[in-house]
Amino acid sequence: MTYYVPPTLSEAELTQRDERWAIRVRGLHKTFGDNHVLRGVNLDIERGQVNVIIGASGAGKSVLVKHFMLLLRGDSGGVWVDGTNVFTLDPKELASFRRKFGMVFQFAALFDSLSVFDNCAFPLREHSKKSKKEIEEIVGDRLAALGLHGTQLKFPGELSGGMRKRVGLARALVLQPEILIYDEPTTGLDPLATENVDDMIMTTADRYHVTSVVISHDMASVFRIADRISMIHEGVILESGKVDEVRHTSNEYVHRFISTSGVIGAGRGMAGADDGDDADETTRREMRIS
Ligand SMILES: Nc1ncnc2c1ncn2[C@@H]1O[C@H](COP(=O)(O)OP(=O)(O)OP(=O)(O)O)[C@@H](O)[C@H]1O
Ligand SMILES: [Mg+2]
Repeated sequence: MTYYVPPTLSEAELTQRDERWAIRVRGLHKTFGDNHVLRGVNLDIERGQVNVIIGASGAGKSVLVKHFMLLLRGDSGGVWVDGTNVFTLDPKELASFRRKFGMVFQFAALFDSLSVFDNCAFPLREHSKKSKKEIEEIVGDRLAALGLHGTQLKFPGELSGGMRKRVGLARALVLQPEILIYDEPTTGLDPLATENVDDMIMTTADRYHVTSVVISHDMASVFRIADRISMIHEGVILESGKVDEVRHTSNEYVHRFISTSGVIGAGRGMAGADDGDDADETTRREMRIS
């Protein structure tokens, strides 16, 4: 099996903000008890792009992204965000560092006792000095953009799973973070709602120039939204590159993983086979503009 090998960087290079790469992960290990989940992860996340992370259930996708904002601390190796080694941040620095990020969790993680409006207003009330009117405008705008008109006074328990996910997304967007992490934003949504959320991810990336990290299982969605795709397997990154590079991967495991879904050249067997789908990239770009 071949592995993805990123550029080797000196400490000086890692601790300097790079124009192209927002997050750099090098040699990251994480163990829970005797479960060695991350076994030397090397990964670069490209600024302003939609970076999708794929991998089997339990492969460590959620664990990996939680290290980006220090929701988990690695055993060894490091994560550098805009040149900051996140493992060296003290609690005071951490609070402001985390404001760079918005996170949409795998399970919506809303406050059940707060209305949809109050859930979305919460980060603004906590972390900004915006007036009541400004907060109403921002929350209203994000909810409307996600098709959540008329839900402001409802409570999470009164919403469908898909709606809760969209509220989680709206809440992550209110502070206009530089880096948005979406953990399986479309799981459990019907195809139309999935397209809605995909559009939202792409529009947000383009409109606010955010760096997006999206964990997804849904290959149709992955190929619709991704600029880059990275695959985690057995604790390491097997493949990482632009969509077309990954589509034509020479790594058979990666090829099988992405082709079983039927989205590209299913059943054609070998990597590099022409999947007759070169229009995909164009389609995606057009969607982003419309
Ligand atoms: N806080 C934790 N404590 C102990 N073990 C954990 C913890 N978080 C994750 N794990 C373990 O780490 C492994 C990877 O979990 P993770 O949630 O990252 O998988 P995943 O790739 O996101 O899977 P899925 O696609 O199902 O969400 C699993 O074996 C899981 O049980
Ligand atoms: Mg997960």
